[in-house]
Amino acid sequence: MFQASDYANLLQQLEQFFADTTAKKPVANPLDPGELCDRLALDLPTEGIPLEALNRDIADYLTYGVKTAHPQYFNQLWGGFNPAGFMGDILTSAANTSMYTYEVAPVATLIEKTLVAKMGELVGFTHPEGQFTTGGSNGNLMAMAIARHHALPNLKQTGLANAPRLIAFVSADSHYSFAKAAHLLGLGTDQLWQVPVDADGRMRVAELERLIAIARDQGALPFLVVGTAGTTVRGAFDPFAEIAAVAQREQLWFHIDGAWGAGVLLSPTHRHLMQGAEQADSLVWDAHKMMGMTLMCSVLLVQQRGTMLNTFSTHGTDYIFHQFDDDPVDLGPSTMHCGRRVDAVKLWLAWKHLGDRGWTALIDRYFSLAAQAEAIIQAHPSLELVTPRQSLNLCFQYIPANPQRHRNELTRKIRQVLWDDGIAMVNYAQIDDHVAFRLVICNNQTQPEDIEEFFAALVAIAQQLEQEER
Ligand SMILES: Cc1ncc(COP(=O)(O)O)c(C=O)c1O
Repeated sequence: MFQASDYANLLQQLEQFFADTTAKKPVANPLDPGELCDRLALDLPTEGIPLEALNRDIADYLTYGVKTAHPQYFNQLWGGFNPAGFMGDILTSAANTSMYTYEVAPVATLIEKTLVAKMGELVGFTHPEGQFTTGGSNGNLMAMAIARHHALPNLKQTGLANAPRLIAFVSADSHYSFAKAAHLLGLGTDQLWQVPVDADGRMRVAELERLIAIARDQGALPFLVVGTAGTTVRGAFDPFAEIAAVAQREQLWFHIDGAWGAGVLLSPTHRHLMQGAEQADSLVWDAHKMMGMTLMCSVLLVQQRGTMLNTFSTHGTDYIFHQFDDDPVDLGPSTMHCGRRVDAVKLWLAWKHLGDRGWTALIDRYFSLAAQAEAIIQAHPSLELVTPRQSLNLCFQYIPANPQRHRNELTRKIRQVLWDDGIAMVNYAQIDDHVAFRLVICNNQTQPEDIEEFFAALVAIAQQLEQEER
């Protein structure tokens, strides 16, 4: 069934791919969909082809894809390459199983529980439980479902028809997954109230209190407040201790979306950003973001054991779950998923390889690269931060010499040239009226000289564009 020699060519191609990645060959090969379609052999054949004949497709996949471990890849809140995590991914596929029962995933179940206990302890939860999920969006959706179940347990049977109007509060800078969750759970996006943020992008807690009072005046039932640990654009951390105090007083479920930022818990120097998180009721933590695991690797943690089982258990499961009590060894009853990929093993192997100290070093190195980038921006006469740096996101603009030149449009153009020329991938985002570069530091292949090179290239392109305009 399995012969290592069948995979020799794939491994060779991967070796070349990673060599090209670190040799700083173009980070991407951007083509429009029509052109890419012409270059790929996409059609599915009636007659199959031998394994060796797949080599061309593998080569195409690697050639036309984006090198997300390239040192100049800053585009998303994830990137880089972790060798032990990669081994875990291969292992997971080889020993293909599903996380729902201990019966079919005995080792993976214990590994996942070990990680949940460790990560819950890092947050400061007293009796943590949790589950790996298919991503931060899914974890946020499940957290909203748990919060609603906590507020109105009968809804599980009765549905929303005669339910009070439920209101959830998020900050104006929160992730869009909460709007999707409000829609999918039948609350409606109008019931997701956005709390204004301050100049640093942090939730204004006085505004939260004001909005809760308005909701109550309207006869609605506030049930959930969400704080964000590392907002998507600015990388801001909401004031969790203050939010927790309000949540407790007002009896709201307090969820933290730490998809991006919870990784700072691994650093004694930077974990202060999470102060108060231990008082939350639940928290999402994407290990495929700051911790650099391959996608997906996301955990939903809950403060009190048993909460997830109460929310997600249902009838009609006896064909699969044969042991059913208040603390089942099976993970399946306590989640919304049935079959679920093993995402814990890669993180477990990576953690064993790096140890707590290795994670600390990684996170601290990211903060030092972010400080370096900030210093470059501050020292350069044509670069300007659009919002103060909160963690590992740098939102900035290039200031053209000609004040008539539109900065927002220039941001998009510079970004496009960086990408078209395969120099770097960096995203942009809107902050108030500004379209700003959003440089994210979370790629373990990036070195201090790459940061220097990135800004040098960006400024050179900007100056060239300015000259062409004259
Ligand atoms: C703050 C925040 N929450 C949630 C998500 C969604 O995470 P995922 O892509 O794992 O679904 C993101 C994605 O970038 C995010 O930035």
